[in-house]
Amino acid sequence: MRTVTLPGGETVAALGQGTWYMGERQGDTAREVEALRLGIDLGMTLIDTAEMYANGGAEQVVAKAIAGQRDKVFIVSKVLPSNASRPGTIQACERSLRRLGTDTVDLYLLHWHGGHPLTETVAAFDALRSAGKIRYWGVSNLDTDDMEELLSVPGGKACATNQVLYHVGSRGIEFDLLPWCTKHDIPVMAYSPLGHDVRRLVRSSALQAVAKRHGATAAQVAIAWTMRSGHVISIPKAGDPEHVRENAGAADLVLNAEDLAAIDAAHPAPRSKRSLDIL
Ligand SMILES: NC(=O)c1ccc[n+]([C@@H]2O[C@H](COP(=O)([O-])OP(=O)(O)OC[C@H]3O[C@@H](n4cnc5c(N)ncnc54)[C@H](OP(=O)(O)O)[C@@H]3O)[C@@H](O)[C@H]2O)c1
Repeated sequence: MRTVTLPGGETVAALGQGTWYMGERQGDTAREVEALRLGIDLGMTLIDTAEMYANGGAEQVVAKAIAGQRDKVFIVSKVLPSNASRPGTIQACERSLRRLGTDTVDLYLLHWHGGHPLTETVAAFDALRSAGKIRYWGVSNLDTDDMEELLSVPGGKACATNQVLYHVGSRGIEFDLLPWCTKHDIPVMAYSPLGHDVRRLVRSSALQAVAKRHGATAAQVAIAWTMRSGHVISIPKAGDPEHVRENAGAADLVLNAEDLAAIDAAHPAPRSKRSLDIL
């Protein structure tokens, strides 16, 4: 498995697994657990979840998937902005830990910037880290101006990632946010690498042509493309074990200059600032 290095030197799998929409229906739990466990076996050991997903239900699915193998996985979860006051963040994290059935969240993110000042949330993250309840913290859906603000608050420079929407059909971050994060040594985590509505994305004739050259699938090309720099972690979600198997194959797919040019021609990089796309 390819890896991405976090600030501080620890490496994590460059290809992880999302969990949005898991835990919504009890009847799907066994299959979702099977999918996540298969993904872990295939090296996709970073699992992204959030208190928001199925109101904690996704974290409970993750708990079942990681039972007996906690040491193999790197768990990412998120606090809702409405809970992101200093005490609220600590309480939300404790609820997440209980649902996840673990003592520590590896990476805890602010889901998006809401009404609570970043100073308070970062102070809570610091306290959680000192207490051993989280190992790293980061943010999600923060554009460049918000990131500048984050770095100016006490302790803000310890941010370990910014998780943002990134796929071939949404490249706005390449104009300034992605270079900014690279300059500040903050890895980006690409969410919805398949565009969330995968049927739309895989219709791309450019992705299909590149896929054909590599004996791969358009979904694999889309995922591999998000990871092409070596500094971006990609977290496709798959509740279907067949999709998990297919997505794991993206880790071995290295796109060449011809592939990237074909994708650029069909899905051009931005030439000016765009406000951050958010799902
Ligand atoms: N921070 C944030 O605000 C934020 C926002 C959105 C997402 N996220 C995180 O990022 C993760 C991924 O994003 P996402 O769930 O929005 O979208 P995504 O990963 O781009 O796409 C997921 C969809 O693609 C399908 N799929 C997966 N692999 C496939 C394949 N090989 N072939 C065909 N279909 C495939 C899945 O179906 P099946 O489930 O049936 O396999 C699911 O319907 C989320 O689960 C979540 O953890 C974070």
